[in-house]
Amino acid sequence: MTEFATLTYNGKSYQLPVLTGTEGEKAIDISTLKTRSGLITMDNGLSSTGVCQSAITFMDGEKGILRYRGIPVEQLAEYSSFKETAYLLINGRLPSRKELTRFSVLLNDLSLVHEDLREFYRGFPRHSHPMGILSSMVNALRSFYPELETTDEGINLTMARLLSKIRTLAAMSYKISRGHRVVYPRPDLTYCANFLNMMFDSPVRPYQIDDELVSALRVFWILHADHEQNCSTTAVRVVGSGRVNLYAAISAGIAALWGPLHGGANQAVIEMLEKIVKDGGNIQKVIDRAKDRKDPFRLFGFGHRVYKTYDPRGKIIKKMADRLLEKQRVPDPLLDIAKELEIAARKDDYFIEHHLYPNVDFYSGLVLRAIGIPTNMFTVMFAIGRLPGWIAQWKESIDDPGWKITRPRQVYTGPTCRDYIPIDQRT
Ligand code: CMC
Repeated sequence: MTEFATLTYNGKSYQLPVLTGTEGEKAIDISTLKTRSGLITMDNGLSSTGVCQSAITFMDGEKGILRYRGIPVEQLAEYSSFKETAYLLINGRLPSRKELTRFSVLLNDLSLVHEDLREFYRGFPRHSHPMGILSSMVNALRSFYPELETTDEGINLTMARLLSKIRTLAAMSYKISRGHRVVYPRPDLTYCANFLNMMFDSPVRPYQIDDELVSALRVFWILHADHEQNCSTTAVRVVGSGRVNLYAAISAGIAALWGPLHGGANQAVIEMLEKIVKDGGNIQKVIDRAKDRKDPFRLFGFGHRVYKTYDPRGKIIKKMADRLLEKQRVPDPLLDIAKELEIAARKDDYFIEHHLYPNVDFYSGLVLRAIGIPTNMFTVMFAIGRLPGWIAQWKESIDDPGWKITRPRQVYTGPTCRDYIPIDQRT
């Protein structure tokens, strides 16, 4: 039976249906409000607004729960491969062995990029940020592979093409930025091992695949694979709603992820920790700055719009950082600083009252450092991980029979109607 919420304004009442999700989440459907009442709703940052119904990812921010297609992320991090998790997100179910093999073969077949794309890289200034390059290169893919986006088969191929080529493009950008020879993908390596080999293999120092590092990358990517309607995913859906091609929608998602309040936080955390070390390890100074309302500085890697408890991804990443660094026997002083900072922040009344806990980005940079990834590639690593989620969300939105272009409204606060003044009469 449908429930209703009643809105009363100017002596008139409007019955608005209440939707209920499979986990009991409720939402008031206001889609007819404007036509019936002339009113719109305001919601800065969309924190009380649902933009779609989705069957992909479930989050409970109070309990610290994250599930992809119903499966807890902890189980996927333990047992799944990144490729299998990508399949799950995009197709809604785990693949059979045969389906997974077919998917692997397809990703392998599509892993090369057109040689002419290399010329594009040469056009970027040497110190360009890899996120800007990645966003441009993904958009450029559409010019090289313009066909096949209208049939199911074509869409499946485009999705697989992107999943496979993004790691080649990312590793290429790193190699070219260093002035080194590009390393091609290898058919005998897994998705994660292949990426590491393309990043670090060199004619003078062949890359030794280390299973521990490959597994760390696998977990890192699985934990980042989707996170429901975050800033970059919303960008993918909004841009996609104009029926733009998948490459352009993903390129917009990459650009949105770049910001330090979103995916760029992993780079910002390491830079913050390095600055603490450089300034003599004064942790209290950083905490005081983060609490100072007059200072725009925030403690990077802390806080989340949805999680009001420890980010479940953060818990796994923290353990992994510990394990990895212990195994490598190369201590990273930044890990000790990060732990001290976490202890100090979590004891502080401001952080307790604001429910600010470490998020996934607080320890993830330390894992990436242990793998050997340079700091300016951290957000690119997040983007590769988030790609299956963006694709799944884009696909869900284009398959939705009620699909509409996203076109929000506003409350206008500018000047009311006034006449144009010729330039020589203006004071
Ligand atoms: N340091 C200091 N104060 C903070 C922080 C922080 N990291 N995060 C939130 N606050 C305060 C904020 O100043 C505000 O205080 P008050 O109510 O007294 O004015 C209150 O907490 C609520 O903050 P908000 O900005 O309204 O919350 P939000 O939901 O809009 O922002 C956030 C969420 C993630 C942007 C924010 O917590 C933040 O800027 N964190 C640091 C950047 C970061 O680590 N981002 C990665 C997020 S996880 C990866 C991802 O999914 O992208």
